[in-house]
Amino acid sequence: MSAKTARKPKAGKSPKSVKSPDSPASAKSPDRLPGEPTLDQLVDRVIRVDHAGEYGAVRIYEGQLAVLGKRAPQPVIEHMLEHEKAHLATFDQLINERRVRPTALMPLWHVAGFALGAATAMIGEKAAMACTVAVEEAIEEHYLDQIEALEPHKDEAALRETCVKFRGEELEHRETGLAHGAEQAPGYTALTGAIKAGSKLAIWLSSRV
Ligand SMILES: [Fe+2]
Ligand SMILES: [Fe+2]
Repeated sequence: MSAKTARKPKAGKSPKSVKSPDSPASAKSPDRLPGEPTLDQLVDRVIRVDHAGEYGAVRIYEGQLAVLGKRAPQPVIEHMLEHEKAHLATFDQLINERRVRPTALMPLWHVAGFALGAATAMIGEKAAMACTVAVEEAIEEHYLDQIEALEPHKDEAALRETCVKFRGEELEHRETGLAHGAEQAPGYTALTGAIKAGSKLAIWLSSRV
């Protein structure tokens, strides 16, 4: 595992955790720096973007399976797809329970996710695995940012734990991609660089639109 992906959540280092718990303002929103989101805004963003990300992941693996059919590594991709469907079900439930508006870009991710999965699978099985490495890396890094942002907010410990659990599974998917020859895909560095940049753009857009 690279040093980057081994990055651990920081415990209690955020300036947001400095204020005394006795302070009335700390109940909902520990010390905020100017321009930082409120806790409600943070939770809204976390749920909206993770819901979109998990939906995109489902569509990517569905796109790969549509092209690869029963060819290897179909069982491996199906296993990851099952995880993504479970992740999506959790965020579907949170969207409803917490009354969060889904991103307006869901129809775009429906098409773009499937297209990305199908296109990489058309290049070959190893390119499909390179796609997995790139996407899962972007997602797990994003989960880690959320885990750190939620750390001072004890009321949201359950949401943070969900992010911790799912991040662990995304890391597993990344390792699966590497174990199945991702790095032997043609143009691996350029391919993963482009897909990861696109994934990060999708994350940025989904948390705002
Ligand atoms: Fe996931
Ligand atoms: Fe994943």
